[in-house]
Amino acid sequence: MNKSVELGVKKMEWAWQYMDVLRAIKGRYIDEKPFKGSKVVVCCHLEAKTANLGRLIGDLGAEVWVTGSNPLSTQDDIADALREHYGVTVYAKHTHDDEAFRKNLYKVLELEPDLILDDGGDLATIVHTEYTNYLKNLKGISEETTTGVHRLRALDAAGKLKVPAIAANDAMMKYLFDNRYGTGQSTWDGIIRSTNVSIAGKTVVVAGYGWCGRGVALRAKGLGAKVIVTEVDPIKSIEAVMDGFEVMSMTNAAPLGDIFTTLTGDINVITKDHFPLMKEGAILANAGHFDVEISMKQLREFSVEQWEARPNVIGYKLPNGKSIYVIAEGRLVNLAAADGHPIEIMDTSFGVQLMSLKYLWENKGKLENHLMTVPESIDRELAVIKLKTMGIAIDELTEEQKKYLSSW
Ligand SMILES: NC(=O)c1ccc[n+]([C@@H]2O[C@H](COP(=O)([O-])OP(=O)(O)OC[C@H]3O[C@@H](n4cnc5c(N)ncnc54)[C@H](O)[C@@H]3O)[C@@H](O)[C@H]2O)c1
Repeated sequence: MNKSVELGVKKMEWAWQYMDVLRAIKGRYIDEKPFKGSKVVVCCHLEAKTANLGRLIGDLGAEVWVTGSNPLSTQDDIADALREHYGVTVYAKHTHDDEAFRKNLYKVLELEPDLILDDGGDLATIVHTEYTNYLKNLKGISEETTTGVHRLRALDAAGKLKVPAIAANDAMMKYLFDNRYGTGQSTWDGIIRSTNVSIAGKTVVVAGYGWCGRGVALRAKGLGAKVIVTEVDPIKSIEAVMDGFEVMSMTNAAPLGDIFTTLTGDINVITKDHFPLMKEGAILANAGHFDVEISMKQLREFSVEQWEARPNVIGYKLPNGKSIYVIAEGRLVNLAAADGHPIEIMDTSFGVQLMSLKYLWENKGKLENHLMTVPESIDRELAVIKLKTMGIAIDELTEEQKKYLSSW
């Protein structure tokens, strides 16, 4: 085994021992092989946990091809291990070259998949625009993240969605834990690893108080930071105030922040209007899906000098003489500068993804070409599995209580 494969295998096996939900699903379905006869493309941030998900879908009967959903989040040792040790077809490489990244997205479609497990909606978009011939065989798409769901929803609203799709992201067993506690922990993991700075005593600006932003703000507070939230939604803004955070516009927050994080799913949240207002040494990181939340194009054009300050951290000298720093070129900081979400969190999310794909496969030909939510039965089944793996037993409604709660 070469060094890269060996390291990849170790990482995957390490993760697997904490993936209780997927291990329980494997135990339950390994004999049945529910994906038998299917061809599945998995488009994901390729690291140990997603690799284990891809491997499991294969173990449960599918032919699986895997690609990356972001050019910087693929870990090459994992890609090597998956390909060479576990025998899964992989087209993914860590790269700064967007064209090389997209070539792999096109390549996996040559499998003519029955099912696509997507993360961010790139593959769904490609099959609906550039490569519509692959729609012929496609039975369904399951989407992992908020941004991908936005894109599918827009496609559906325009009447252009040509296959059934499931918003795995919108399952309670996904967003309640993954977006909040997963992003909450791993965003700080990425920032801390990249910079080695203290969070305690800093002023942290969190843009977006959705599921992800709530988690990042909560953990920043726990680490001892003073937290400022910026929002565009009046209700979320009040929620942030009630949770004990200062809320203001980005223009007002810019001069106050030591560390900025964006988690909006939106474009141009921090721009050239804000860069010159920032403190010397301000650190910027994005944890939203695309690298468009911090306007990197404007920063590159506006700055007078750029240099690598640390691995994965670029310094930008502004015309006013101040320097600010951006981690991972404004791409998902928790994936491009750390290992992504904690294992147990992803394990649960992947339980949702796997069961959603299974639902699409078992109901092929019966579902409408719309974006649907994850069936409640899947959410509940996963919650039961998760509680069991945690050794937690809960109360059950008695017949008397059921009757009481359903009477008026
Ligand atoms: N880093 C990760 O691992 C990870 C995990 C899950 C989701 N995501 C991504 O994070 C992003 C946010 O996801 P979410 O689930 O929190 O979404 P969400 O819809 O729950 O929250 C987004 C929030 O941003 C706010 N917002 C929009 N534009 C804004 C602006 N210009 N300024 C300030 N606030 C603004 C919205 O009002 C909303 O409250 C998405 O891109 C999603 O794909 C990343």
